[in-house]
Amino acid sequence: MAAEIFDRLQQILDEIKTASPRNAAEVEQFRIKYLGSKNILKPLMGGIREVANEQKREFGQLINTLKKTAEEKFQSLKTAAEQAAEQADAQQIDLTAPGHPRPLGSRHPISIIMKQIVDIFARIGFTVAEDREIEDDWHNFTAMNTPEDHPARDMQDTFYLKDSTHLLLRTHTSSVQSRVMKNTTPPIRIIAPGRVYRNETISARAHCQFHQVEGLYVDENVSFADMKQTLLYFAQEMYGPDTKIRLRPSYFPFTEPSAEMDVSCFICRGDGCNVCKYTTWVEILGCGMVDPQVLENCGIDSERYSGFAFGMGIERQAMLRYRINDIRLLFENDVRFLRQFTSAL
Ligand code: DAH
Repeated sequence: MAAEIFDRLQQILDEIKTASPRNAAEVEQFRIKYLGSKNILKPLMGGIREVANEQKREFGQLINTLKKTAEEKFQSLKTAAEQAAEQADAQQIDLTAPGHPRPLGSRHPISIIMKQIVDIFARIGFTVAEDREIEDDWHNFTAMNTPEDHPARDMQDTFYLKDSTHLLLRTHTSSVQSRVMKNTTPPIRIIAPGRVYRNETISARAHCQFHQVEGLYVDENVSFADMKQTLLYFAQEMYGPDTKIRLRPSYFPFTEPSAEMDVSCFICRGDGCNVCKYTTWVEILGCGMVDPQVLENCGIDSERYSGFAFGMGIERQAMLRYRINDIRLLFENDVRFLRQFTSAL
């Protein structure tokens, strides 16, 4: 009989040790079963009467071990449950909490102007063409009707690559024209934004690097009137619907005839100011009908196709629009300067 009681107690001890309640309710059941006021041990206590005297001490110790083990197990289960609850709490996401503010940058004024120009031409079917800044002599000059001994090369002081006679930093985005024409059959309608380089002494008005946007339209029957209408559309989108344009005869090796385009002053709107130097006109771009020789140089049949092209500087437009009086500010990346320009993305 006594042996049975010992067996039973041993069995309960094993149960306590292996119990693994999975949640708070099961932990509570464990407590009630082994430690509660009507716990499973109580009815067994009376069994001591049946235990031989020399075993009573052992019986008592076993009961104590059981109680202690149950108590310890319960405590550790409780702590674990509390920690788990705390963790779950911490992980809960409060959807009403304010977000972490992220500092927003702003576009560089050059990028603002360039993007506006590209967007305006994209709306009438021009696609963006980009190409290399390290260009060869042929694409930058020769194909554009400016052979080696041509005096017009002096107009654009060139950085040649060290130890190279034919690799250079492109002096204008017109080099993209020759790249595209060589690889595409008309119709061609491209707009080419990019960085260009000239060996200029850096001052408030000039820099050795700047940006241009080039445009090229080649198809059958493209006329000077098409060019004028396209550029008027551009000027009015860019500078307001009342903007007027004026074309003045000019010279570029790659266009014939060539012109320079002024827009009516977008600052004073005709009253005269120091931006337009009281002329009411502001020069914006160079343009012209693509010289047939340029088409031929790039493998396009000039009997069948004609085209117009234009090129404009970005820094100048940015400086006029934002009244920036020193071009160097545009390349210093001083955030106090850059923070002043905001634009919708
Ligand atoms: N490439 C010229 C420059 O850098 C600008 C230019 C003038 C581009 C007339 C053209 C054009 O495409 O037709 O000064």
